[in-house]
Amino acid sequence: MSPIEVMVSLGDRAYPVIVGDGVRHQLPDVIAADSKRVALVTQREIGVEVDPGREHQVFFIETGEAAKSMATVEMLCRGFARWGLTRVDTVVAVGGGLVTDTAGFAAAAYHRGVSLVNVATTLLGQIDAAVGGKTGVNLPEGKNLVGAFWQPVAVLCDTEVLATLPAREYRNGLGELAKYHFLGGGDLDALPLEERVAACVRIKASVVASDERDGGRRASLNYGHTLGHALETAGRYDLRHGEGVAIGLVYAAELAHHLGRIDALRVAEHRRVVAAYDLPMKLPPDTDVDELVVLMGRDKKAINGLTFVLDGPNGVEPVTGIDRSDLDAAFEAVR
Ligand SMILES: NC(=O)c1ccc[n+]([C@@H]2O[C@H](COP(=O)([O-])OP(=O)(O)OC[C@H]3O[C@@H](n4cnc5c(N)ncnc54)[C@H](O)[C@@H]3O)[C@@H](O)[C@H]2O)c1
Repeated sequence: MSPIEVMVSLGDRAYPVIVGDGVRHQLPDVIAADSKRVALVTQREIGVEVDPGREHQVFFIETGEAAKSMATVEMLCRGFARWGLTRVDTVVAVGGGLVTDTAGFAAAAYHRGVSLVNVATTLLGQIDAAVGGKTGVNLPEGKNLVGAFWQPVAVLCDTEVLATLPAREYRNGLGELAKYHFLGGGDLDALPLEERVAACVRIKASVVASDERDGGRRASLNYGHTLGHALETAGRYDLRHGEGVAIGLVYAAELAHHLGRIDALRVAEHRRVVAAYDLPMKLPPDTDVDELVVLMGRDKKAINGLTFVLDGPNGVEPVTGIDRSDLDAAFEAVR
């Protein structure tokens, strides 16, 4: 199958996301001709080798959310400076969301911004994190608290490298894949992997094109995440991000149904998709619902009290002012 190219259009600029087996080998072609040097940022564990076709140096960062930090950004920028990376050169991030977020922020900050190319190596990275220009790192006070919008000049989603992805990391991406079914993706599970990834990228590209700076429509990408994040933040449940999102999708469907926004068939469709990816759709048995409600209230997307991204007659959109009794009714349906 030949590679699929999806353009992300942003007013006066556009960049390609190229999806397919072996597309990492197109790296030299997507780097600007006047970029003489490339700083390759990756993790040792990833083992995906790329050749940018010009002078380059590899900068390794650690794995795990603790490495997504200001200290790593400083380490990278100091490394770039010592090596002599200039403002016409390019940073290439080779990795999952952790690498593209961190290297992307270093690229946004170094010399007030140098070109960035993302080679996304996880399913979550390919369908979500590497596309759209959100970069950033965590602080001890919270996740993703410091960052910048910095669009890459190209993204390569090489589906071949997903073969080495640990099963639990693949599962993480499946939660996001399930989400795209309800953002206009339709029957994604009927498609081969490359086309499925490209279909998700197309949806993300269209949302980003209409709302680059996260003013409204981009909130739809948070579908399933309000409860998902709360389950993750509680930290007591043995759930991966994608699994929390999966439970969050079914919960959001039950809540939307309770509020009369969608019918029972649409709820059944949510359950069918989540089950098709073999993801959970019930709260863990020992769930403390009161704690989840408090955590959901702290969600970054919560602007006026409790805001939920819900499906409805106009598609998936943020809905404000949800009562505790409605939340509780939906909790009963996912116990
Ligand atoms: N910027 C955005 O829009 C956005 C969107 C969603 C998530 N994120 C961020 O993305 C991060 C999560 O990303 P992730 O799920 O990709 O996790 P990750 O980047 O931490 O990668 C998961 C693990 O897989 C390994 N790995 C990566 N590719 C591999 C490969 N091909 N073969 C073998 N091992 C490989 C990594 O070394 C790592 O240990 C979070 O920090 C999250 O905040 C950002």
